[in-house]
Amino acid sequence: MSSNSLDAAARPRIPAGIAGVADYEPHARERMDPAAWAYLCGGAGDEITLRANREAWDALRLLPRVLRPLADGCAGIELLGRRLASPLLVAPMAFQRLAHADGEAATALAAAAQGAGMVLSAQASQRLEDVAALVRDEAGRGPLWFQLYLQRERAHTLELVQRTEAAGFEALVLTVDAPTSGARDRERRAGFCLPPGISAVNLRPQPSQPQTQDFFAQVVAQAPTWDDVAWLRSATKLPLLLKGVLHPADARQALALGVAGLIVSNHGGRTLDTAVSTARALPRIADALGGALPLLVDGGIRRGTDVLKALALGAHAVLLGRPVLHGLATAGALGVAHVLRLVRDEFEIAMALCGCACVADIGPELIDPPA
Ligand code: FNR
Ligand code: LAC
Repeated sequence: MSSNSLDAAARPRIPAGIAGVADYEPHARERMDPAAWAYLCGGAGDEITLRANREAWDALRLLPRVLRPLADGCAGIELLGRRLASPLLVAPMAFQRLAHADGEAATALAAAAQGAGMVLSAQASQRLEDVAALVRDEAGRGPLWFQLYLQRERAHTLELVQRTEAAGFEALVLTVDAPTSGARDRERRAGFCLPPGISAVNLRPQPSQPQTQDFFAQVVAQAPTWDDVAWLRSATKLPLLLKGVLHPADARQALALGVAGLIVSNHGGRTLDTAVSTARALPRIADALGGALPLLVDGGIRRGTDVLKALALGAHAVLLGRPVLHGLATAGALGVAHVLRLVRDEFEIAMALCGCACVADIGPELIDPPA
């Protein structure tokens, strides 16, 4: 084979027989180290919230309309001034090089190719500047956002924010549901720790976590509060979204503070076990906001019908978590692009079968009983 021909043996492949994103899971598992797999898939405690997220979408029943005109249908949306091919973004997920050597770069390229949004985790395993530079100038890409946690030192947070702005990210997503890690039993049983060579390269090293007997004194004494959100909002020119809101009172407070959007999330069941499922939390938050802000949701979204249900309950867009990592582990960027494509195709089918030509046609009357 000549040196410039494609090496078919090394080429990533989409395995035969993949019909929906869940079909990627066994392929990903086969390719990953068991402890890293436990980190990727696991949730907190007994994983009750992890399961509840899925069950809640499944439990909703659609009440479709028929014979409505579907000509010129379109699944596209606008979000904070940018066009998306469909209401899909990749959720921020840490350490993607655990799933595939190409890491976050592959995920970002795939999202760009599919016109989906990409939220890069603060705990990305590749430099934020490098990931942004890869996709920033792609025509037709979706939004490029950066997720952050407030660092112990405001100066460190500020430095991160300034790098994010300079790199070309278009919004900041502050995750507020994890002032501490959840008790992630599956991960601990598997003895997960980061392998050499994979780390949160964008962050300054943090002092190691103190012992739990000093928990309130040391670990969460520095947990962020609403004052820090107000400070961050004034410290950046980028729109600021909050991720991890479940209570309508918190949604109202965020609205009053002038944030640019909210993400209803329980961190994919990875923080507070037995927290409410996102499908249940969403309608009350949508109600509290009254359409005043872009509203997103994640957690257990696996099917195009789940996306349609989320929009019917008041979300403007959804984020996909673990299935993206399953695609990444299986076939790199190709796998991620395929995962996003599968969900988008299913969403378009679901829209057509519910009589919706555009996302504005998706409303609460499509859910039985109405929320
Ligand atoms: C996450 N999530 C997450 N969230 C966040 O704000 N910052 C982060 O760094 C991470 N890291 C992370 C790693 C892994 C391996 C997973 C699975 C999840 C949570 C993520 O953004 C999202 O809220 C959930 O994953 C959505 O649920 P599903 O789609 O995975 O069920
Ligand atoms: C997690 C952290 C990184 O869920 O947010 O693993």
